[in-house]
Amino acid sequence: MGKIAPSILAADFSELAAEVNRIRPQADLLHVDVMDGHFVPNLSIGAPVVKCLRPRTDLYLDCHLMIDNPGDLLDDFAKAGADSCTVHVELGDPRPLFERMRAHDMRVGLVFNPETPLEAVLPYLEEIDILLFMSVHPGFGGQAFIPEVLDKLRAAREIVDERGLAVELEIDGGINLETAPLAAAAGADILVAGSAIFHAKDPLAAASAIRAAAWPELVPT
Ligand code: DX5
Ligand code: ZN
Repeated sequence: MGKIAPSILAADFSELAAEVNRIRPQADLLHVDVMDGHFVPNLSIGAPVVKCLRPRTDLYLDCHLMIDNPGDLLDDFAKAGADSCTVHVELGDPRPLFERMRAHDMRVGLVFNPETPLEAVLPYLEEIDILLFMSVHPGFGGQAFIPEVLDKLRAAREIVDERGLAVELEIDGGINLETAPLAAAAGADILVAGSAIFHAKDPLAAASAIRAAAWPELVPT
């Protein structure tokens, strides 16, 4: 069963809880983009916002850490109520971070940039719950989907299925009505969408349309 993860990066931060509740019926997870202005050239939100959201939604909080020092902040995210944290493989050996996440009972995510080869994440497939494919350069919403990432996604899907692994394949960046079916066909389990949902006139309908475009066979007739 495919999942939709609206990214609050594109939501109106002044009305965050209302924005989240509006899309709740079509959301399986809530994607939270954490940016530090160093690892990526943009600054967004952090654990204090996760803490405020936690009592306002029952959604799984899927925290994507685009920061130089995830190790310094994992405790804060766990205490704030994050369900998983996803760390970038480009920072170096992620295993110590995985251990800390497990110690906090968080699910473990690993993410890699469009130009990073699949080989960089393969050694960790057995140790993670989510593998996140960046289909744009991280840092900003509203960018165009990079189609070359689909080759990595297809290859990973095959490996995961062959080995019977439980890791979910998630894709993030430029997902909309046109690209969602491509990502789903390539084997994505979770589609992150920011601007295509929250910048739409009717975000709930937009999320529903993305789900139907991605997985038409699952939509009741
Ligand atoms: C980009 C973030 C994405 C972003 C996606 O660095 O990781 O999650 O919100 O935004 P859209 O869906 O607009 O490309
Ligand atoms: Zn993200």
